[in-house]
Amino acid sequence: MMEQTREQLYNQLLCQTGAILEELRALGVDELYLPLRQRPERAETLEDIRAELGDCQRCALGRGRNKLVFGAGNPAARLVFVGEGPGREEDQCGEPFVGEAGRLLERILFAMGLSRADVYICNVVKCRPPQNRNPREEEIAACEPFLLRQLAVIKPQVIVALGRFAAQTLLNDQTPISRLRGRWHSYQGTDLMPTFHPAYLLRNPGGKREVWQDMQQVMQRLGAD
Ligand code: URA
Ligand code: URA
Repeated sequence: MMEQTREQLYNQLLCQTGAILEELRALGVDELYLPLRQRPERAETLEDIRAELGDCQRCALGRGRNKLVFGAGNPAARLVFVGEGPGREEDQCGEPFVGEAGRLLERILFAMGLSRADVYICNVVKCRPPQNRNPREEEIAACEPFLLRQLAVIKPQVIVALGRFAAQTLLNDQTPISRLRGRWHSYQGTDLMPTFHPAYLLRNPGGKREVWQDMQQVMQRLGAD
């Protein structure tokens, strides 16, 4: 059989393409989008992550919550505080640490020469557990990927884990908070300092001295470069 010329092949292709387009038109398709080049990937933002969470029902906490508490503060913060989960007041207004523990956290920040606007504040889980019980394993598993993505966007230099629950969960280490605190650890490659939860300090003001020691270590590390 005679070999087809380039031109014959080209004409065949053109003819087939035309037939496909006519068929599509008959099906009601009257516009085609032809990306000639891959768009460059846009870096993820906190807004993207919030949008993806939407009206999150990935775990059972979604049903009982009032407002999802995504996190708040400086999206380029060098210091991120991670608490346990929203309480009653946080669930009402959708902002982290707005109750009494939050006011104590603000005073700790003030002593560090910082304000809420300088740092980023969020929690291990974004929805209030009923009666403020500890978040369950499956609830953490559903929520932690979003915390990780937030941290990947913010790229803080230091994370402070507030309280036993945040510290033990993030470090996957059941050592008591009294022994975890005051020493540097790592969470996904970022320096992490566990310290007592401000709610614990409200009941045990004696712990403030240790928290202040921990925050001095944090300030030293932030000041180091
Ligand atoms: N306690 C927490 O752990 N997180 C909050 O957001 C408020 C109180
Ligand atoms: N128990 C907690 O849950 N958190 C603290 O910070 C201290 C004791």
